[in-house]
Amino acid sequence: MTQRSIVEIMPAVDTQDGAGVRLQRALGARPGARLDPLLMLDAFSSDNPDDYIAGFPAHPHRGFETVTYILDGHMLHEDHLGNRGDLVAGGVQWMTAGRGIIHSEMPQQTEGRLRGFQLWINLPAREKMKPAGYRDIAPEEIPCIELAQGGRIKVIAGHLELQDMRVTGPIAGGATEPLYLDVSLPPQSGLTLPVPAGHNLLMYVFEGSLLLGDRTVPTATAVVLGEGDEVALLTRDSAARCLLIGGKPLHEPVVQYGPFVMNTRQELEQAVHDYQTGRLTA
Ligand code: CO
Repeated sequence: MTQRSIVEIMPAVDTQDGAGVRLQRALGARPGARLDPLLMLDAFSSDNPDDYIAGFPAHPHRGFETVTYILDGHMLHEDHLGNRGDLVAGGVQWMTAGRGIIHSEMPQQTEGRLRGFQLWINLPAREKMKPAGYRDIAPEEIPCIELAQGGRIKVIAGHLELQDMRVTGPIAGGATEPLYLDVSLPPQSGLTLPVPAGHNLLMYVFEGSLLLGDRTVPTATAVVLGEGDEVALLTRDSAARCLLIGGKPLHEPVVQYGPFVMNTRQELEQAVHDYQTGRLTA
């Protein structure tokens, strides 16, 4: 077994998106800063409605998948296909834009805390123009492993073999074989997780701090992990919580214009043209 070490430490960058939602961009803050097949990871967390109330009114996507994971609060998703999904705390929405989707994502609360993440995962060239689809995953559909030393792991996507169990998340397989884990550890504990050797892997710490090797990763920080088939995490005096997210790299060219992610400039221009002429989703 080979432990993965830290290749790059990236503090999340404060930014705004949608109609003025304040968020922290953990991946994708700089042009071209991606981790094939991961395109972007945003974290949002606020007790102040002014930071989130404007939400994400109707907007398009083509060529990739968006994964929204809500920790606190409540969002409503509506799309051009007539889908309507209520995203509650602990739930996930896995949306495959394919050739095109036009949707809105709006907070359903006027006070209290809204906290969660949105991840963008690329699709391979052969799947970029497939029909759009989405899946609402209720909190109780997400397997939760209680760890012997305390703490727990939620398996949102992919497989995890731990404590003589093989646990599979509600999303598994597909071209990029995404892995998406939410890991909580108590103070003074250690955990070694098996991870797929060929995957690119990102860790994002969002509560407390974690030690990986001899380096400390503080809250609101993403790290890119090097090659290996294990990740060893340690906590010291405080509890910690992180996302471990990865996928099988596609090794294909990526051209992006906002919410359109294609393989060539021509496909990108086609996407913009299709959107402007009302044919994005046709
Ligand atoms: Co969207």
